[in-house]
Amino acid sequence: MSGVDEAKRRAAEGALKLIGDAKLIGLGTGSTVEKLIGLLDPNADSVYVASSIDTAVKASSRGLKVLHPSSIRGPLDIYIDGADEVDEELNMIKGGGAALTMEKILAHHSMKRIFMVDHTKLVSRLGENRPVPVEVIRDALMLVTSRLDDMGYDVVVRRPGSGKYGPILSDTCGVIIDVRMPGDKGPEYVENELKSVPGVVETGLFLGLVDVVTVGYTNKTRVIARGSRSMDLHRQR
Ligand code: A5P
Repeated sequence: MSGVDEAKRRAAEGALKLIGDAKLIGLGTGSTVEKLIGLLDPNADSVYVASSIDTAVKASSRGLKVLHPSSIRGPLDIYIDGADEVDEELNMIKGGGAALTMEKILAHHSMKRIFMVDHTKLVSRLGENRPVPVEVIRDALMLVTSRLDDMGYDVVVRRPGSGKYGPILSDTCGVIIDVRMPGDKGPEYVENELKSVPGVVETGLFLGLVDVVTVGYTNKTRVIARGSRSMDLHRQR
Protein backbone atom coordinates (compact mmCIF):
# COMPACT_ATOMS: atom_id res chain seq x y z
CA MET A 1 0.00 0.00 0.00
CA SER A 2 1.42 3.46 -0.91
CA GLY A 3 2.02 6.10 1.76
CA VAL A 4 -1.00 8.10 0.60
CA ASP A 5 -3.17 4.96 0.57
CA GLU A 6 -2.07 4.13 4.10
CA ALA A 7 -2.83 7.71 5.19
CA LYS A 8 -6.32 7.46 3.62
CA ARG A 9 -6.91 4.21 5.47
CA ARG A 10 -5.94 5.83 8.78
CA ALA A 11 -8.24 8.79 8.06
CA ALA A 12 -11.08 6.30 7.40
CA GLU A 13 -10.31 4.43 10.63
CA GLY A 14 -10.45 7.73 12.50
CA ALA A 15 -13.88 8.49 11.03
CA LEU A 16 -15.17 5.00 11.87
CA LYS A 17 -14.49 5.69 15.57
CA LEU A 18 -16.64 8.83 15.41
CA ILE A 19 -19.77 7.19 13.99
CA GLY A 20 -21.09 6.18 17.42
CA ASP A 21 -24.71 5.01 17.30
CA ALA A 22 -25.67 6.90 14.12
CA LYS A 23 -28.30 4.98 12.18
CA LEU A 24 -28.88 7.04 9.02
CA ILE A 25 -25.47 7.73 7.52
CA GLY A 26 -24.67 9.62 4.33
CA LEU A 27 -21.72 8.40 2.33
CA GLY A 28 -19.69 10.56 -0.06
CA THR A 29 -17.71 9.35 -3.02
CA GLY A 30 -14.09 8.54 -3.76
CA SER A 31 -11.15 6.36 -2.80
CA THR A 32 -11.18 7.35 0.90
CA VAL A 33 -14.90 6.60 1.17
CA GLU A 34 -14.14 3.26 -0.47
CA LYS A 35 -11.70 2.52 2.36
CA LEU A 36 -14.36 3.44 4.93
CA ILE A 37 -16.89 1.17 3.20
CA GLY A 38 -14.38 -1.66 3.60
CA LEU A 39 -14.36 -1.07 7.38
CA LEU A 40 -18.14 -0.78 7.93
CA ASP A 41 -19.99 -3.71 9.51
CA PRO A 42 -22.72 -5.11 7.22
CA ASN A 43 -24.41 -6.66 10.28
CA ALA A 44 -24.91 -3.34 12.07
CA ASP A 45 -28.42 -1.88 11.86
CA SER A 46 -27.27 1.33 10.14
CA VAL A 47 -28.62 2.42 6.77
CA TYR A 48 -26.51 4.33 4.27
CA VAL A 49 -27.49 7.05 1.83
CA ALA A 50 -25.18 7.05 -1.18
CA SER A 51 -24.06 10.27 -2.88
CA SER A 52 -23.30 8.52 -6.18
CA ILE A 53 -23.91 5.36 -8.18
CA ASP A 54 -20.29 4.38 -7.53
CA THR A 55 -20.76 4.52 -3.75
CA ALA A 56 -24.16 2.78 -3.94
CA VAL A 57 -22.63 -0.14 -5.85
CA LYS A 58 -19.58 -0.41 -3.58
CA ALA A 59 -21.65 -0.23 -0.38
CA SER A 60 -24.23 -2.73 -1.67
CA SER A 61 -21.49 -5.11 -2.76
CA ARG A 62 -20.15 -5.01 0.79
CA GLY A 63 -23.59 -6.03 2.07
CA LEU A 64 -24.54 -2.64 3.53
CA LYS A 65 -28.15 -1.44 3.37
CA VAL A 66 -28.26 1.44 0.89
CA LEU A 67 -30.98 4.03 0.30
CA HIS A 68 -31.30 6.41 -2.64
CA PRO A 69 -31.35 10.10 -1.59
CA SER A 70 -34.79 10.49 -3.18
CA SER A 71 -36.26 8.09 -0.59
CA ILE A 72 -35.32 9.93 2.61
CA ARG A 73 -36.76 12.94 4.43
CA GLY A 74 -33.69 13.73 6.52
CA PRO A 75 -31.95 14.92 8.48
CA LEU A 76 -29.23 12.30 8.30
CA ASP A 77 -27.45 11.50 11.59
CA ILE A 78 -23.98 11.78 10.04
CA TYR A 79 -22.44 12.47 6.66
CA ILE A 80 -18.95 11.09 5.93
CA ASP A 81 -16.89 11.93 2.87
CA GLY A 82 -13.41 12.65 1.51
CA ALA A 83 -12.18 15.99 0.15
CA ASP A 84 -9.68 17.37 -2.35
CA GLU A 85 -8.37 20.29 -0.27
CA VAL A 86 -8.94 21.47 3.31
CA ASP A 87 -7.75 24.87 4.54
CA GLU A 88 -6.98 26.00 8.09
CA GLU A 89 -10.58 27.15 8.62
CA LEU A 90 -11.83 23.73 7.51
CA ASN A 91 -13.24 25.06 4.29
CA MET A 92 -12.84 22.59 1.46
CA ILE A 93 -12.74 21.91 -2.25
CA LYS A 94 -14.60 18.78 -3.30
CA GLY A 95 -15.79 17.23 -6.54
CA GLY A 96 -12.68 15.54 -7.91
CA GLY A 97 -14.99 12.57 -8.52
CA ALA A 98 -17.76 14.72 -10.09
CA ALA A 99 -20.24 13.94 -7.29
CA LEU A 100 -20.15 17.39 -5.67
CA THR A 101 -23.83 18.29 -6.05
CA MET A 102 -25.30 15.32 -4.21
CA GLU A 103 -22.39 15.40 -1.74
CA LYS A 104 -23.18 19.00 -0.85
CA ILE A 105 -26.90 18.29 -0.55
CA LEU A 106 -26.32 15.35 1.80
CA ALA A 107 -23.75 17.28 3.86
CA HIS A 108 -26.20 20.18 4.21
CA HIS A 109 -28.98 17.88 5.41
CA SER A 110 -26.87 16.07 8.03
CA MET A 111 -26.61 16.80 11.74
CA LYS A 112 -22.88 16.05 11.81
CA ARG A 113 -20.34 16.17 8.97
CA ILE A 114 -17.07 14.24 9.05
CA PHE A 115 -14.48 14.51 6.29
CA MET A 116 -11.50 12.20 5.89
CA VAL A 117 -8.33 13.30 4.13
CA ASP A 118 -4.76 12.19 3.82
CA HIS A 119 -2.31 14.85 4.98
CA THR A 120 -1.44 15.93 1.40
CA LYS A 121 -4.90 17.52 1.15
CA LEU A 122 -4.17 20.17 3.80
CA VAL A 123 -3.51 23.59 2.25
CA SER A 124 -3.03 27.12 3.53
CA ARG A 125 -5.23 28.54 0.76
CA LEU A 126 -8.03 26.82 -1.19
CA GLY A 127 -7.05 26.37 -4.82
CA GLU A 128 -3.38 25.84 -4.02
CA ASN A 129 -3.28 22.45 -5.76
CA ARG A 130 -6.72 21.90 -7.24
CA PRO A 131 -9.29 23.85 -9.27
CA VAL A 132 -12.86 24.22 -8.03
CA PRO A 133 -15.19 21.71 -9.74
CA VAL A 134 -18.49 23.27 -10.76
CA GLU A 135 -21.58 21.46 -12.07
CA VAL A 136 -23.38 23.21 -14.91
CA ILE A 137 -26.69 22.51 -16.65
CA ARG A 138 -25.67 20.67 -19.81
CA ASP A 139 -27.53 22.84 -22.31
CA ALA A 140 -26.14 26.02 -20.73
CA LEU A 141 -22.50 24.93 -20.96
CA MET A 142 -21.35 27.41 -23.59
CA LEU A 143 -23.34 30.29 -22.09
CA VAL A 144 -21.99 29.63 -18.61
CA THR A 145 -18.36 29.08 -19.59
CA SER A 146 -18.26 32.18 -21.78
CA ARG A 147 -19.84 34.25 -18.99
CA LEU A 148 -17.27 32.94 -16.49
CA ASP A 149 -14.54 33.67 -19.01
CA ASP A 150 -15.79 37.28 -19.29
CA MET A 151 -15.73 37.51 -15.48
CA GLY A 152 -12.03 36.59 -15.56
CA TYR A 153 -12.25 32.94 -14.52
CA ASP A 154 -9.95 30.31 -15.99
CA VAL A 155 -12.28 27.43 -16.92
CA VAL A 156 -11.63 23.93 -18.29
CA VAL A 157 -14.47 21.58 -19.29
CA ARG A 158 -13.71 18.19 -17.74
CA ARG A 159 -13.47 15.37 -20.27
CA PRO A 160 -13.23 11.61 -19.78
CA GLY A 161 -9.83 9.96 -20.26
CA SER A 162 -11.18 7.70 -23.00
CA GLY A 163 -14.33 5.97 -24.20
CA LYS A 164 -16.50 9.05 -24.77
CA TYR A 165 -16.39 12.19 -26.86
CA GLY A 166 -17.51 15.44 -25.27
CA PRO A 167 -17.66 16.45 -21.62
CA ILE A 168 -18.19 14.26 -18.56
CA LEU A 169 -21.78 14.11 -17.33
CA SER A 170 -22.25 13.73 -13.57
CA ASP A 171 -24.72 11.33 -11.89
CA THR A 172 -27.00 14.36 -11.56
CA CYS A 173 -26.74 14.88 -15.35
CA GLY A 174 -24.74 18.10 -15.32
CA VAL A 175 -21.46 18.91 -17.01
CA ILE A 176 -18.44 19.33 -14.73
CA ILE A 177 -16.12 22.25 -15.36
CA ASP A 178 -12.95 22.97 -13.38
CA VAL A 179 -12.44 26.60 -12.42
CA ARG A 180 -9.10 27.87 -11.21
CA MET A 181 -9.40 29.68 -7.88
CA PRO A 182 -8.36 33.32 -8.46
CA GLY A 183 -5.51 34.38 -6.14
CA ASP A 184 -7.12 37.73 -5.35
CA LYS A 185 -10.61 36.54 -4.29
CA GLY A 186 -11.66 34.67 -1.15
CA PRO A 187 -13.71 31.44 -1.23
CA GLU A 188 -16.98 33.08 -0.06
CA TYR A 189 -16.70 35.70 -2.78
CA VAL A 190 -15.98 33.09 -5.45
CA GLU A 191 -18.83 30.87 -4.22
CA ASN A 192 -21.30 33.76 -4.45
CA GLU A 193 -19.99 34.93 -7.80
CA LEU A 194 -20.11 31.47 -9.40
CA LYS A 195 -23.59 30.76 -7.99
CA SER A 196 -24.86 34.09 -9.34
CA VAL A 197 -24.62 32.76 -12.91
CA PRO A 198 -27.84 30.99 -13.99
CA GLY A 199 -26.96 27.53 -15.26
CA VAL A 200 -24.48 26.89 -12.46
CA VAL A 201 -26.01 24.06 -10.41
CA GLU A 202 -23.47 23.81 -7.60
CA THR A 203 -19.82 24.42 -6.79
CA GLY A 204 -17.30 22.20 -5.05
CA LEU A 205 -16.55 24.90 -2.47
CA PHE A 206 -17.74 23.47 0.86
CA LEU A 207 -17.69 26.44 3.22
CA GLY A 208 -18.77 26.00 6.85
CA LEU A 209 -20.06 22.49 6.11
CA VAL A 210 -17.56 20.60 8.29
CA ASP A 211 -17.76 19.49 11.91
CA VAL A 212 -14.76 17.16 12.07
CA VAL A 213 -11.84 16.35 9.77
CA THR A 214 -9.79 13.22 10.27
CA VAL A 215 -6.33 13.63 8.75
CA GLY A 216 -4.41 10.45 8.01
CA TYR A 217 -0.63 10.18 8.07
CA THR A 218 1.40 7.01 7.56
CA ASN A 219 1.73 6.49 11.32
CA LYS A 220 -1.13 8.37 12.98
CA THR A 221 -4.50 10.05 12.58
CA ARG A 222 -5.18 13.63 13.58
CA VAL A 223 -8.73 14.64 14.46
CA ILE A 224 -9.61 18.30 13.98
CA ALA A 225 -13.00 19.48 15.25
CA ARG A 226 -14.40 22.81 14.14
CA GLY A 227 -13.47 25.50 16.65
CA SER A 228 -11.11 23.38 18.75
CA ARG A 229 -7.52 22.20 18.79
CA SER A 230 -6.54 19.05 16.95
CA MET A 231 -5.83 15.75 18.68
CA ASP A 232 -3.48 13.00 17.53
CA LEU A 233 -4.60 9.39 17.64
CA HIS A 234 -1.18 7.72 17.57
CA ARG A 235 -0.53 4.30 16.18
CA GLN A 236 -4.05 3.18 15.64
CA ARG A 237 -2.90 -0.24 14.64
C1 A5P B 1 -16.02 13.21 -5.18
O1 A5P B 1 -16.76 13.99 -6.06
C2 A5P B 1 -15.07 14.06 -4.42
O2 A5P B 1 -15.66 15.14 -3.76
C3 A5P B 1 -14.23 13.25 -3.46
O3 A5P B 1 -14.81 13.18 -2.20
C4 A5P B 1 -12.89 13.85 -3.37
O4 A5P B 1 -12.42 14.03 -4.70
C5 A5P B 1 -11.92 13.00 -2.56
O5 A5P B 1 -11.61 11.85 -3.27
P1 A5P B 1 -10.55 10.79 -2.76
O6 A5P B 1 -11.05 10.26 -1.45
O7 A5P B 1 -10.52 9.75 -3.84
O8 A5P B 1 -9.23 11.47 -2.62
